[in-house]
Amino acid sequence: MGNLQNVLVTGTSSGFGRLIAATLASRGHTVVATMRDPAGRNAEVARELGRLSDSLHVLELDVTSDASVHDAVATAETITGGLDVVVNNAGIGAGGHAEAFTPAQLAGILDINVVGVQRVTRATLPFLRQRGRGLLLSVSSIMGRIVIPWSAPYTASKFALEGLMESYRIELTGTGVEVAIVEPGGFATDFASRMLGPDDTERVASYGERAGEPQRLWGGFMEALAKDGPDPQLVADAVAETVDAPAGQRAFRVVVDPMMGGGAATAVNETTEAVQAQLMKQLGGGSDQAEA
Ligand SMILES: NC(=O)c1ccc[n+]([C@@H]2O[C@H](COP(=O)([O-])OP(=O)(O)OC[C@H]3O[C@@H](n4cnc5c(N)ncnc54)[C@H](OP(=O)(O)O)[C@@H]3O)[C@@H](O)[C@H]2O)c1
Repeated sequence: MGNLQNVLVTGTSSGFGRLIAATLASRGHTVVATMRDPAGRNAEVARELGRLSDSLHVLELDVTSDASVHDAVATAETITGGLDVVVNNAGIGAGGHAEAFTPAQLAGILDINVVGVQRVTRATLPFLRQRGRGLLLSVSSIMGRIVIPWSAPYTASKFALEGLMESYRIELTGTGVEVAIVEPGGFATDFASRMLGPDDTERVASYGERAGEPQRLWGGFMEALAKDGPDPQLVADAVAETVDAPAGQRAFRVVVDPMMGGGAATAVNETTEAVQAQLMKQLGGGSDQAEA
């Protein structure tokens, strides 16, 4: 374990979040595993997580609610004696024609995947900055770097998340707080079964023969994932290794994409890293984090 002990994780009721919380606890961290409705529909998983370790605490946190985020962070600060790491993991997917998602649907997805991260970051960052150390880690996606069609609201949200985190990385230079992004490819978590479809079904039908294209692409992909998908634990391990890496030596972006080889996102990352560094030199600034 590195020098960052106390970790808050969002969206731990299933998938990566649950594994991230368990993995960090098994490595000796004090973990605040947050989720929606731990006393109701998520009670069983909350109990299971709580039983894993005395230093794993389950708290309610809905990333779309300012009050919920505020209350959970205040309690987490008290329980842990001070948070060191925030893992923004909660998120939701979307599959279908871009045009058929209503503005309200797009806003709802952005509220979870992007604004939710900003809520949690704004609630926790003052504590981290005050202590002069810490890590903000977000679970993005390879779809935050490259476009796979028929998932526009999700892709837009993860591209936005990448921009948000890259801005924090630069702006937090010199504060001791680092930023990292883990970019998974496809994994068979509960993600596929919770993906939102478009509300405007008439708009879908107006595509005629092409109305079924999202299902053709995503249906095939999900089938392959369910049959032979990589182990989601790989993502939890990548998060834990990033948390436990020494300060100043953390990769900024980590691609975990065994299914498609990770080549496309890695190529984009390498290009933008170089372009961004050059731009920051021109602007007379930069980041004090290691390059990936
Ligand atoms: N699986 C993949 O192939 C894949 C690939 C790339 C990136 N990702 C990213 O990985 C992250 C985790 O996804 P997953 O694959 O583990 O999917 P998952 O099993 O569906 O988990 C998503 C988690 O987010 C939580 N969540 C949703 N809305 C929330 C809210 N308003 N407040 C708090 N928690 C909320 C869900 O909790 P509830 O029980 O309350 O719904 C659930 O625990 C997401 O950010 C996703 O975009 C996944």
